[in-house]
Amino acid sequence: QSYLLTDQYRRPIQDLRISVTDRCNFRCSYCMPKEIFGTDCAFMHKDELLSFEEIMRLVSLFASQGVSKIRLTGGEPLLRNDLPVLVAAIKQIPEIKDLGLTTNGTLLGKQAQSLYDAGLRRLNISLDALDPKLFGQMNGRGIPTDHILKQIHYAQQIGFKIKINMVVQKNVNDAEIIPMAQYFKNCGITLRFIEFMDVGNDNSWSFQKVVTKQNILQKLQQSFQLEPIEPTRFGEVAKYYRYAESDAQVGFITSVSESFCSSCTRGRLSSDGTFYNCLFASQGLDLRDLLRHGADDHTLLQAIVQTWTQRKDRYSDERTAQTAVSRPKISMSYIGG
Ligand code: GTP
Ligand code: 5AD
Ligand code: SF4
Ligand code: SF4
Repeated sequence: QSYLLTDQYRRPIQDLRISVTDRCNFRCSYCMPKEIFGTDCAFMHKDELLSFEEIMRLVSLFASQGVSKIRLTGGEPLLRNDLPVLVAAIKQIPEIKDLGLTTNGTLLGKQAQSLYDAGLRRLNISLDALDPKLFGQMNGRGIPTDHILKQIHYAQQIGFKIKINMVVQKNVNDAEIIPMAQYFKNCGITLRFIEFMDVGNDNSWSFQKVVTKQNILQKLQQSFQLEPIEPTRFGEVAKYYRYAESDAQVGFITSVSESFCSSCTRGRLSSDGTFYNCLFASQGLDLRDLLRHGADDHTLLQAIVQTWTQRKDRYSDERTAQTAVSRPKISMSYIGG
């Protein structure tokens, strides 16, 4: 297979993760700790965000370079007004074969049906614990587990294909691994365990706080029989296993213990229109500036192609205790997980 646009390690660009807002109604300690993202913290003004027209113009250009998969993220993407309008527009682009949304789930009750009607079919919903007290602490806002579970079941009943994302931190929520697995196995929903990562510069990450895939799998195997599933797609982020006696699956996102940079086909567009080559990047290409100064498609494409062609990012392959603190990285709510 030959690709239109590849980087220094011959990785094509196939996915674009688009952050539609930098705001969030949660304050997860591993992403937007409330000590740093206080009530008076400065988010972007509306006119700083890319408009849907600007996003769509870029999506079309990226699609012409091989992007076929789009993920909408944030911050919390459901805080962006009229999101179904953007979903419907993206669904109109023939090259885009896959569209997903990553959300904390709080606002699905109001929006899930209109998102489904606009053509969205896939939701990844974050949930770090079933224990109400712990979950309330972890989301930094005291939001109860029941509320999120209700939204998950509502979305499932509408017809969405759902995966649950659980970020595992040692001595914080590792006791929730088995209860979470049991619960979502029973619902037939795929649960993915995510190794805690050193995103941004504020989440007090260390190797000691990471629970690896191997640790988690060992724990699970004491209660369940699991068999590995072959990867379905080049550049897949998660490794999946099937429970022996059911159709339910679990996944692992092993950015720390088994990094997957060599097949990383993902570019990122921040909510203010900067294009990044990596989740851990410290610099990006200011596409909004080009857009708002009247750049034509050729000029925009040239800038995108040049940025991706020069790409050598492989942060998770290079991660050490040192890089985790010394490299300036963009905050996750801004760059879009
Ligand atoms: P699917 O299409 O459903 O597989 O989506 P996804 O897993 O790519 O997206 P999601 O937003 O649910 O991300 C799950 C976790 O994987 C989050 O913690 C992301 O930060 C992490 N992740 C996604 N892409 C990358 C990546 O390129 N590098 C690293 N290090 N982590 C990533
Ligand atoms: N490490 C791992 N995953 C993280 N996420 C946010 N911050 C981190 C981190 N430091 C996850 C969220 C969400 C997804 C978009 O990224 O839980 O599921
Ligand atoms: Fe919000 Fe998601 Fe970050 Fe939690 S991880 S603070 S829900 S953007
Ligand atoms: Fe891709 Fe960067 Fe993640 Fe590696 S660390 S998989 S290069 S986004």
